[in-house]
Amino acid sequence: MPKVKKAVIPAAGLGTRVLPASKSMPKEMLPIVDKPAIQYIVEEAVAAGIEDILIITNRGKGVIEDHFDHSVELEQRLEASGKFDMLKQVQELSHLANIQFIRQRETNGLGHAVGCAKAFVGNDPFAVLYGDDVIISEDPVCGQLCRVYEEFGKSVVGIKSVSPEQIVRYCSLAVSPVRDNVFSVSDMIEKPAPDKILSLYSILGRCVLTPDIFDILDQTKPGAGGEIQLTDAMRQQAVAGNMMGVDFIGKRYDMGNKLGILQANCEVALKHPELKDGFKAYLQELVKTF
Ligand code: UTP
Repeated sequence: MPKVKKAVIPAAGLGTRVLPASKSMPKEMLPIVDKPAIQYIVEEAVAAGIEDILIITNRGKGVIEDHFDHSVELEQRLEASGKFDMLKQVQELSHLANIQFIRQRETNGLGHAVGCAKAFVGNDPFAVLYGDDVIISEDPVCGQLCRVYEEFGKSVVGIKSVSPEQIVRYCSLAVSPVRDNVFSVSDMIEKPAPDKILSLYSILGRCVLTPDIFDILDQTKPGAGGEIQLTDAMRQQAVAGNMMGVDFIGKRYDMGNKLGILQANCEVALKHPELKDGFKAYLQELVKTF
């Protein structure tokens, strides 16, 4: 199978669960300690061997483009003041990958957002990394999925078991084990009623799709919430026997909800070389007070 070289990062959602923070600042730009969420996601894709990235944005998300662009004035200032470490970081950011942007003109759902990538993707397999799902792992999760695509030649979804309370808000999958953490996926249902739950396995934040998904998306009618659901299109690949699942190794942070943002900041800070000692001492003192 060809190697996966392209990735799509949908980042055009309204982020209503993190309002008012996301009113004029895209939730994908909210920081985890010292980097915006979407930078972790781009770095994950690059570490997995992705060369071309398309970020789906919309009105008001121009700061995402600015973040990955050159900043001549800033770079000159850092050089003049001898801040060479920071200069290197800022320069590396604009050379991370070949990053392109396209606007989703209406916020019609994740399936519609991915559909905007049709011309960019062409006839190649491609990874999708949800712009508000940061997953920290030694072995980039995007790469874990790409390897399974390269082995089986089918679409691959990143899966995790969630709680019975969560599954009714997520997508429930019918899975059968293939080996260790690899499954075949034969069906899925978005936001299932309790008696329609297929399993507690759900898709979390990452997939690799074969390009036939675009023809399916073209035919996909609005589903849950009146939006074009990516999972409704993926379901067709699953029932046709063309989908695998990987119970990935990695810690996922949902940057689309407030608790997820706090957990990400807390846990990343506790591992950050400059901050971990001071932050840990601060937390240890703080917990004594409540
Ligand atoms: P979500 O459903 O979590 O994002 O989509 P949302 O719509 O912003 O969430 P609410 O408003 O808090 O409920 C997952 C990913 O898909 C993108 C989002 O930006 C997010 O990264 N997305 C979603 C799009 O690009 N376009 C859409 O129409 C919907």
